[in-house]
Amino acid sequence: MKHTVVLTAAFPAVARQLLAGEFDVIEHPTEHGRDEDDMIAILAEADAAITLLSDPLTRRVLASNPHLRIVANFAVGYNNVDVDAARELGITVTNTPGVLTEATADLTLALILATTRRIVEGDAEIRATGRCEWEPLKLLGLSLQGRRLGIIGMGRIGTAVATRARAFGMEIVGVRRGEPLDELLETSDVISLHLPLNATTRHIIDAAALSRMKTGAVLINTSRGPLADEAALCDALERGHLSGAGLDVYEDEPEVNPRLLAMSNVVLLPHIGSATIEARTAMATIAATEVLRFLRGEKPRHAVV
Ligand code: DGY
Repeated sequence: MKHTVVLTAAFPAVARQLLAGEFDVIEHPTEHGRDEDDMIAILAEADAAITLLSDPLTRRVLASNPHLRIVANFAVGYNNVDVDAARELGITVTNTPGVLTEATADLTLALILATTRRIVEGDAEIRATGRCEWEPLKLLGLSLQGRRLGIIGMGRIGTAVATRARAFGMEIVGVRRGEPLDELLETSDVISLHLPLNATTRHIIDAAALSRMKTGAVLINTSRGPLADEAALCDALERGHLSGAGLDVYEDEPEVNPRLLAMSNVVLLPHIGSATIEARTAMATIAATEVLRFLRGEKPRHAVV
């Protein structure tokens, strides 16, 4: 009997193409804000699934289908999966490391530049007025040359961000997971977060950490929203302690804190760090290949459980 692979969203076509010859593939449209019951219904037929980073793969969901053997998460992060439950239930979990490093690092630099050079404000002005009026004091930003970039999480993506930032003349201070943040917080002009989300990294940037940042510093987050306490971040921005923030991720996705929406010194993107054709195609290829290998009895290459 053919195995059934459930795709919980509209992924790049290569995922279906790789799997459809050997397996029954059920493809669901992309949906936001799914709850556990939605997931249980979607995964009911699945022997394997390719899942979204917003799909809640809780213990209850994973335990609801005894046929489910592998979840290939279409992301490098897998904080949406209860990995302890998956381990206990004997469900393999894979991710898509490596292939989105450059895309995410590029977007991080785009946010650093957009925030420090007020690019979105400039674009908004032209659209509102239909004019380009040069003025000596208009939209003054910060030069990156000689400024210090603090990178929290010097893994693959953090290291790729450092390479790019050095080309802009920035000085880098980087810490790896678990290393002390004191010097980085107190001396950096721009701080960029590149950590996975787990119990030890949630709110690593809290009110206390924000208060230790330099006055006028900028926070960039292209990792996971809950790494920063968003309410405390809004406080710091509103009272002018930070001069700006560039965010691709939010504490309560898909919701975005209305306080952030009201601030012109904050650049907001809809979680598009890996959104290049190359990266997303590679992610789909990895996820589908992991499922293919597993269902053929081979060892997946990127198992996190
Ligand atoms: C990931 O892979 O974890 C990103 O957030 C989405 O590509």
